[in-house]
Amino acid sequence: MKERNTGNTVVVVDGGGRGATLVDKYAQSKHVERIIAVPGNDLMKINTDKPVQIYPQLKTTSIPEILEICEREGVDLVDVAQDNAVEAGLVDALTARGVPTVGPTKDAGQIEWDKAWSREFGERHGIPQPFFIICLNQQEGFSFIQSQPDQPWFIKASRLAEGKGALPAKNNEEAVERIKEMERFKEAGKVFLIEKWLRGDDGSAGEEFSTYVFSDGRNYKVIGNAQDHKRVNNFDEGENTGGMGCSTPPLVLTPELMRDVEVGVINRAINGLHAEGRPYRGVLYLGGMAIRKNGSLSPSVIEFNARWGDPEVQVVLPGLINDLFEVSMALAQGDISSLQLQMDNKARVVVTGASKGYPGDYKEVRGKQIYGLDEARKIDGVRLYGAGIKEEDGRHYASGGRLFYIVGEGETVIDARRKTYGAMSVVSIDGNNLHFRTDIGWRDVQRLRKGL
Ligand code: AMP
Ligand code: GLY
Repeated sequence: MKERNTGNTVVVVDGGGRGATLVDKYAQSKHVERIIAVPGNDLMKINTDKPVQIYPQLKTTSIPEILEICEREGVDLVDVAQDNAVEAGLVDALTARGVPTVGPTKDAGQIEWDKAWSREFGERHGIPQPFFIICLNQQEGFSFIQSQPDQPWFIKASRLAEGKGALPAKNNEEAVERIKEMERFKEAGKVFLIEKWLRGDDGSAGEEFSTYVFSDGRNYKVIGNAQDHKRVNNFDEGENTGGMGCSTPPLVLTPELMRDVEVGVINRAINGLHAEGRPYRGVLYLGGMAIRKNGSLSPSVIEFNARWGDPEVQVVLPGLINDLFEVSMALAQGDISSLQLQMDNKARVVVTGASKGYPGDYKEVRGKQIYGLDEARKIDGVRLYGAGIKEEDGRHYASGGRLFYIVGEGETVIDARRKTYGAMSVVSIDGNNLHFRTDIGWRDVQRLRKGL
């Protein structure tokens, strides 16, 4: 069998830090000779001596071009890591051509790309989630809110909106404003959801976590968990972003809570998708919230995603000891029942390096030079993954909002965090234009310090 030999070519479909992490892990495989990233980015090659080719002129949804690359380059495996590509049906197109592919079909991926469908699916399968209603137009939303006692809500565009489609509303008055704002998401916000803001039965706020599993459609294996920090500023203040940093393992996930996550959520989701004729193959990402009920914590679903999280993958995937090519081939062939996942169980903390102004306007930062990245990545126990960066003659320049990610590892989140911030302190951008949070992992650092 070819996959047991060396000399394989893998395509990773993603352009950011998530793709960079996958490229790094595939490059560590003894079976892989070279990697192609679509569109990729300029820093994808930094962690390996193996050839990495990027296609910056393509999109993750450039289906005919990706099929052509597979044929021309004799590609052995494609990892479809990005949500728009799943929604566009890239996995279906590759599979129809007989290309071994990791990632869910468009139908299975509907669990992410159609929030209304996903919540109804959750309801059909008894998956714990907040109360929701689906609105087909603004008037329906206004009438519903009018009929309700004053309380906090989330208003969410049903379709993909670059992770920005969920708007919090502190009360009914704000909810009406947020409903009006759905227009700005165009087609993605035509259908929208109104959800109750999840809280414990004692009124306490929930604590978020995310869980990652590999599934072949019938079986699943838990890879690991992470805790993201979505707000742009310290103390969880400011706008929501795609993620300013994560830590693993999240200590909120006690063995008891993890059992409820598996039995009450993951198992029901995988079995439910199978029963509905949409077997889920690939990485399933549960965005969960631990809320207090009758005195103990129980999980509720914020969302499912049909891919790795970014930057969660940067802390979870490096802990995988198995050869990723072997795991992915088993997924692509639809049977992971005999796979034994091994993790190194280290703690990891990733911090997102962003352009000042992100997630709003950061155009002033575009083209400015970034210093210290090579120095940072050479520190022992540190890994660097690039995203919105251009490289020219060995120099680095900002080209996006999310620029790079620094990952530190250690025995505990406290050790890992020290590594990460040590490396972060040697990086800067012309004109003091680097923004990053300095409190990533704070919940668990506090727990560890208090001995909880
Ligand atoms: P999403 O885009 O669905 O991931 O939502 C973005 C963020 O909003 C999540 O990470 C949560 O912090 C928060 N969120 C979304 N829905 C709810 C909800 N029903 N209750 C409480 N928080 C929520
Ligand atoms: N970090 C959140 C996401 O990847 O959706």
